[in-house]
Amino acid sequence: MNHLVSLDQLLDTELLAKLFDRAAEFKLLSSRDYPQVLQGKTVATLFYEPSTRTRLSFEAAAQNLGARLISTENAGQFSSAAKGESLEDSICTVGCYADCIILRHPEKGASHAAAEVSKVPIINAGDGAGEHPTQAMLDLFTVLESKPNASDLSIGLVGDLLYGRTIHSLCQLLALYKPKTVYAVAPSGLELPAQYAKTLKESGVDLKQVDNWDEAITKIDVLYMTRIQRERFATESQYLKLKDSFVLTPDEVKKMKSDAMILHPLPRVNEIDPLVDADLRALYLEQARNGLFVRMALLEYAINRPS
Ligand code: CP
Repeated sequence: MNHLVSLDQLLDTELLAKLFDRAAEFKLLSSRDYPQVLQGKTVATLFYEPSTRTRLSFEAAAQNLGARLISTENAGQFSSAAKGESLEDSICTVGCYADCIILRHPEKGASHAAAEVSKVPIINAGDGAGEHPTQAMLDLFTVLESKPNASDLSIGLVGDLLYGRTIHSLCQLLALYKPKTVYAVAPSGLELPAQYAKTLKESGVDLKQVDNWDEAITKIDVLYMTRIQRERFATESQYLKLKDSFVLTPDEVKKMKSDAMILHPLPRVNEIDPLVDADLRALYLEQARNGLFVRMALLEYAINRPS
């Protein structure tokens, strides 16, 4: 079964290169020329947590390739989960109607549980503070589009590295592509989990775990900002204490290399001043756009590849 629950199922540079090449092909096409390779297939999006980019880009990706779409964007309230149905029962049922299920869920491990019972591919669209593998793929695709020599790069990961699922997936990809240096910049209490620090170090990456970005901001080629996530804290006061730990302003951007890239998985709250958006180094909207093409490539792979 072609599940994509964790990035460790896709740690294959040859396969990733093929998927990125396919995404790049899709990006060059005008929408009327998209190949209808998923005609006759049905894709389900089952979202128990809010989303703008992931759900809508997956839905657009499925339809661009000719698939039909079935969707519930507030599954906790509008699916039979509200009546007490287990996730496993919902997955088995949706699998009767769809050839692939895109699942977002607030609980870490939910996609693993779904994949255990599913007869159709499960794609993890974010499981609580666990992983977000398709986001990491589009992140890396965006980096390599501008900076194809990953091994020369210094990358700064900034913000909530503890609960940030995009960070957890991205660290696994970085361990595969081995940039020169990774600065893991987090406030005290939101540091990178030990397992991802170990993965990076064992791959040979020079990992610098710091609580300020004074050095990183002047040296990095890629700045990957993340949101401090209110929904992951037990109390509002814990969130308020940390929410403005790192705010990227035009003054901070002035310290960065002239050819650096600024990425963010989005949504942002106030960790990037909107005045930064006009800077040519701010590529987060292009990153979100790339999500469409990477997800088209992934859906084609998950649904049409023989299992
Ligand atoms: N990056 C991301 O997952 O965005 P959404 O929550 O809007 O899907």
